[in-house]
Amino acid sequence: MARIGSGAASLPRSLVFLVFLKLLPLAIGKADFQVLGPQQPVLAVLGKDAELPCWLSPNISAHLMELRWFREQPSPAVHVHHAGQDKIGEQMPEYHNRTSFVDLDMAQGKAAVRIHRVTASDNGSYHCLFKEGRAQEAATLWLQVAGVGSKPRIQVIHTQDRGVWAECTSDGWYPQPEIKWKGQTLPNETKFSVSANTSLWAVVSRVALQDGAVDSFSCSISNTLLSEEKVANSHLPAPFSRGSQLRKQRLALAFSLLAMGLIMAGVIYLFGNCQRKAYRTQLTEETEGGRDEQSQQASMPRAMPLHETPRRTQ
Ligand SMILES: *[C@@H]1O[C@H](CO)[C@@H](O)[C@H](O)[C@H]1NC(C)=O
Ligand SMILES: *[C@@H]1O[C@H](CO)[C@@H](O)[C@H](O)[C@H]1NC(C)=O
Ligand SMILES: *[C@@H]1O[C@H](CO)[C@@H](O)[C@H](O)[C@H]1NC(C)=O
Ligand SMILES: *[C@@H]1O[C@H](CO)[C@@H](O)[C@H](O)[C@H]1NC(C)=O
Ligand SMILES: *[C@@H]1O[C@H](CO)[C@@H](O)[C@H](O)[C@H]1NC(C)=O
Repeated sequence: MARIGSGAASLPRSLVFLVFLKLLPLAIGKADFQVLGPQQPVLAVLGKDAELPCWLSPNISAHLMELRWFREQPSPAVHVHHAGQDKIGEQMPEYHNRTSFVDLDMAQGKAAVRIHRVTASDNGSYHCLFKEGRAQEAATLWLQVAGVGSKPRIQVIHTQDRGVWAECTSDGWYPQPEIKWKGQTLPNETKFSVSANTSLWAVVSRVALQDGAVDSFSCSISNTLLSEEKVANSHLPAPFSRGSQLRKQRLALAFSLLAMGLIMAGVIYLFGNCQRKAYRTQLTEETEGGRDEQSQQASMPRAMPLHETPRRTQ
């Protein structure tokens, strides 16, 4: 500066031009620094913390700058930090109480925002913007969320028309998991779905089971980002096939017919007993007349043949 003060005219033209170039950006709000972030997506595990770092190039101090991490719009933001303070008022509600500023090395222009309890909706792109006066620069960075779901459950389903199936279910995965069956795998169907609330993936997969050599099988669901998988094993019960199924059904039918027959026999026997009793009562009445009317009355309504009206005592 002292040299410029001593006489700009005496300076080489190229230097004047250089100074002009250096001042131009400031005049039109363009910064003489760059903001950089990680080139690769930052991997974050569901429910854990994630850190989104950004830094200046050249590594000048960022102490006097406003640092802002945001999604689509600069405001409201994910996190804003200025003059040593967090500006909560400008924060998106979904990040309230879930972020903190990390001073990695502010003197060298390096800082991060930490997101706590990462959810599936945190997945995607972010921007960090460093601002000093009218000069500002931003970088784009990516958060890749990954989560392992519940241990799969296997259920064996017997159907009338389509034989025996094994169904494997699991939920709470992010992103969409991969599913593999081992053992018996014939025509199958796999359905993936996303929870409207949590954006996490659920899976239901079915395979047809065949009566054959293999008597155990497994269903494995994995998250390739984390190289983690969860497996459920299952064994086939006693040998089954369409033939033995039919035999079982016939046996069940025979048993129920037998049971029905026994009940019918019982009913007929009891009914016959009643009839005989009624007949005997009638006989007694005819031979003994009305001598024992009190005791007869008790058994009368049940024993009385239908075509006779019960006699009443006057
Ligand atoms: C910051 O930059 C200076 C040179 O400008 C260099 O000597 C120093 O090692 C850098 N510091 C870091 C942390 O990169
Ligand atoms: C954040 O935390 C404060 C106190 O811990 C609480 O009063 C406030 O309701 C919380 N905000 C949200 C959005 O959870
Ligand atoms: C998650 O974010 C990454 C980038 O951060 C993106 O490539 C990916 O498509 C996103 N996943 C979903 C399911 O939106
Ligand atoms: C389902 O069957 C197809 C062939 O029909 C096969 O390519 C695929 O791997 C099977 N999927 C599972 C999960 O077993
Ligand atoms: C999903 O959200 C709806 C309403 O927002 C709620 O009724 C339901 O219980 C929630 N389900 C789960 C699994 O949290």
